[in-house]
Amino acid sequence: MFHEKLEKFPKDFLWGSASAAYQVEGAWEEDGKGLSIWDEYVKIPGTTFEGTDGSVAVDHYHRFKEDVKLMSEMGLKAYRFSIAWARIYPEGRGQVNELGLKFYDDLINELIKYNIEPVITAYHWDLPKALQDLYGGWESREVIDDFNNYCVTLFKRYGDRVKYWVTLNEQNVFIGLGYSTALHPPGVKDTKRMLHANHIASLANAKAIQSFREIVKDGKIGPSFAYGPVYPLDCSPENMLAFENALEHNNHWWMDVYAWGKYPKIMFNELKRRGVAPEIQPGDLELLKAGKPDFMGVNYYQSGVVASNPLDGVGEGKMNTTGKKGSSSESGIPGLFKNVQNPYLKTTDWDWTIDPTGLRVALRRITNRYDLPVLITENGLGAYDTLEENDVIKDEYRIDYLRAHVEACKEAVTDGVDLIGYCTWSFTDLLSWLNGYQKRYGFVYVNRDEHSEKDLRRIKKDSFYWYKKVIETNGEEF
Ligand code: BG6
Repeated sequence: MFHEKLEKFPKDFLWGSASAAYQVEGAWEEDGKGLSIWDEYVKIPGTTFEGTDGSVAVDHYHRFKEDVKLMSEMGLKAYRFSIAWARIYPEGRGQVNELGLKFYDDLINELIKYNIEPVITAYHWDLPKALQDLYGGWESREVIDDFNNYCVTLFKRYGDRVKYWVTLNEQNVFIGLGYSTALHPPGVKDTKRMLHANHIASLANAKAIQSFREIVKDGKIGPSFAYGPVYPLDCSPENMLAFENALEHNNHWWMDVYAWGKYPKIMFNELKRRGVAPEIQPGDLELLKAGKPDFMGVNYYQSGVVASNPLDGVGEGKMNTTGKKGSSSESGIPGLFKNVQNPYLKTTDWDWTIDPTGLRVALRRITNRYDLPVLITENGLGAYDTLEENDVIKDEYRIDYLRAHVEACKEAVTDGVDLIGYCTWSFTDLLSWLNGYQKRYGFVYVNRDEHSEKDLRRIKKDSFYWYKKVIETNGEEF
């Protein structure tokens, strides 16, 4: 669809930026915080790039005032951050830790002081280790009540000041990498266990939303889904079928459950035939239906292309976590589809395609299928940055990437998408889970690397000034 003139962004559009506790805070065992599964996992040799961990990260825990001041200087309208469950409940349940609650009180109050809308993510992958040890974390239905209890604590404590909430960040990623490819904790490779844990996470998501309705009457809540829309390789019927499989398997499997409380029928049938479909207990579907979100949170980085893949075809592939372009390999689900390269698109040094139109496609697909408002909870470019003399970072590649994606948002708004906000990933540089500190995403450079914390100095990149202008003009100049 071509438009002669693009619509303006809504007046109260949330121009934001996002982060996650483990990736920025550090202070991994301070003020009564318990351990998370990530605190433990990163210690296993070979799991992360050059053994990097978030024990210090970018020290946001101690420098949050400086970081928020920079946000206000930029004119940021919203800051999405996550709460470390193990700061609030060191054992995941039981005794609450007042010092943990106070840290986020202070952060929220600081944001509000500068008119920055706090957007809280309740869960960004750092499950308390105690719950993993006690009952196997997301594989036990006990986690539903523990997650709900933790969320209720947050809703009661912060619900008076925080209007926007994200329940689970990228359930499809933490469950997929945690239980299918074993790249995240708990490091399991088992499709049946994965789909089982995933079903439980969906129930936990729904239950927390149900509680939210009771406690935060005027708030908005939704999950953040990692949405990489897929395209068929070409118009051959086999590839079109592979595309249908991928849509259901990668996207509808989660988003249909969030929006409608039901699994896509054909894919459920197929996974049942394979003996891996989750067990649905009485009451599950009712709970899922009751957990309808107010918006669909979308984390968008790239699109994908799929092609037909026979039963003895490609399975697990290799992910590029080193930043050596071209070091990833083909992957797929035998009998369903395989992921192949898009000959039309450029890629980053980590082999992620750069496709702003994919974002527009994603927004339109969500709008048409679910008719829900969308909050872009993450979008950004992971790249190497060079700190030049006089503290200059010329990251025009990041500006190019973001500019094209903001334009795609504007086109999507003109198409009719109810877009309520756009959060870039990320505000400051931070730890990229598997890729160390060299894969940078921020508007603000943090002077540290894999080998040394250096002085953790904050330095504004060129993109900082670019986004400031975008916000100032409500997206009219980008
Ligand atoms: C999302 C996550 O998957 O993408 C973030 O929500 C993550 O936590 C971001 O950092 C970028 O991914 P990566 O692997 O490059 O850090």
